Amino acid sequence: MAVDILIGLQWGDEGKGKIVDVLAPTYDIVARFQGGPNAGHTLEFEGTKHVLHQIPSGIFHPHIKNIIGNGVVLDPIVFRSEMVKLQERGVDASQNLFVSKKAQLIIPSHRIIDRVSEEALGKEKIGSTLKGIGPTYQDKIGRVGLRVGDIVAPDFKDRYNKLLERHRKMVEFYGQQLDLGDQEAIFFEAVDYLRTLKLVDSEYMINEAMKNGERILAEGAQGSLLDVDFGTYPFVTSSTTLVAGACTGLGVAPRHIGEVYGIFKAYCTRVGSGPFPTELHDQVGEDIRQAGREFGSTTGRPRRCGWVDLPSLKYSIMLNGVTQLNMMKADVLTEFDTIQVCTHYKLASGEVTDKLPHSLDGEHIEPVYVDLPGWKVDLNLIESVEELPEAFMNYIRFLEEHLQVPISIVSVGPDRKSTLRREIEKVV
Ligand code: GDP
Ligand code: IMO
Ligand code: MG
Repeated sequence: MAVDILIGLQWGDEGKGKIVDVLAPTYDIVARFQGGPNAGHTLEFEGTKHVLHQIPSGIFHPHIKNIIGNGVVLDPIVFRSEMVKLQERGVDASQNLFVSKKAQLIIPSHRIIDRVSEEALGKEKIGSTLKGIGPTYQDKIGRVGLRVGDIVAPDFKDRYNKLLERHRKMVEFYGQQLDLGDQEAIFFEAVDYLRTLKLVDSEYMINEAMKNGERILAEGAQGSLLDVDFGTYPFVTSSTTLVAGACTGLGVAPRHIGEVYGIFKAYCTRVGSGPFPTELHDQVGEDIRQAGREFGSTTGRPRRCGWVDLPSLKYSIMLNGVTQLNMMKADVLTEFDTIQVCTHYKLASGEVTDKLPHSLDGEHIEPVYVDLPGWKVDLNLIESVEELPEAFMNYIRFLEEHLQVPISIVSVGPDRKSTLRREIEKVV
């Protein structure tokens, strides 16, 4: 069986958690392959809202195995508090959760380096979530990181101390002192807890499951425009957020990739710094933020809002080989008389293009918009695709025509149930 992959096509927070939870019952395994506690994936059902940071979004289905893959950077402290929160809600995740021994560990000093390096950047800061993501991936690539499998080694504390000393020097380089407070003690308690869980060679687990015909869904974190290679560098995260990341982050050979779900909002948002060509600085942007409750699931920061951006969506679709699209949060646009769609960029040279220039710096790009009539119908009340208003169907058809990939799921509210599926022709 091939591995299906669900990927965010914008700057994250597209609604990946919701759709993974919706699709999960048709899978045997759900696996995270990159990122870490910078992610905040929201699931809503039976009147309750859950936000997951490192635990895959299939966790609420007890028969599904959930894997934290080798490409993830795992913070044991955040992890333990997520497990406790689940426990308090009656979910014992310890039986159906598996953690790769090759996943990298975020230690408390990684978070401190994240903060001091952001402070040093001043106005040019990335707007990191300050969860230690960048510094942990730096240590991974620098070949000095600690991995989950190391926590059972007798000399784990020594290895930890060695890394800590490096970090102490780095913090001093930034003119500050490393002060861990109570975090070190909490970290080692969390590591003791992690040791009691199922630590596995997840690459074998996944490849054997594939051979046995089990269905696997890989859950992306962040979004394609935050990818370390193809995103709006340097305002990106430190991992490969694209489909390719699932190959290295789980140990899946490229020829075993099946369906690629590309998920996007009916508009656009971004948290943190960096270019955003269709950003709205006016009342319309504020109205979208309020209607969409666009405040970060991880940091609570207000999300920047703007109209949907087709050049960047085409780029993400191209890089990921998307086979079907899922459009989220269409209900948020109910109140607008006119919906704008950016089809092209006008560059400083006067050239009009639907390709992404080397730098997406807002000062050099003017979005070219097409105006479409709004639908003015509360989509949240709609229960089947047939009931969708004509103006909304026009919006869908317009997007499909430009993007050349069918939209198979339309989400019209945060709840599991507010999900409409459309019949689509299979893309080969
Ligand atoms: P993720 O990081 O991609 O999983 O997305 P987040 O959970 O960070 O952000 C998506 C937000 O939109 C969450 O608050 C969801 O509950 C909410 N949401 C998801 N789908 C819909 C939808 O179709 N309509 C509305 N109004 N909210 C949605
Ligand atoms: P999910 O999985 C939205 C953004 C941060 C910052 C940049 C780098 O919920 O979609 P980092 O902490 O990774 O070094 O921050 O990336 N960012 C996200 N934005 N959703 C996310 O995850 C994000 N994870 C990181 O705001 O701009
Ligand atoms: Mg999120």
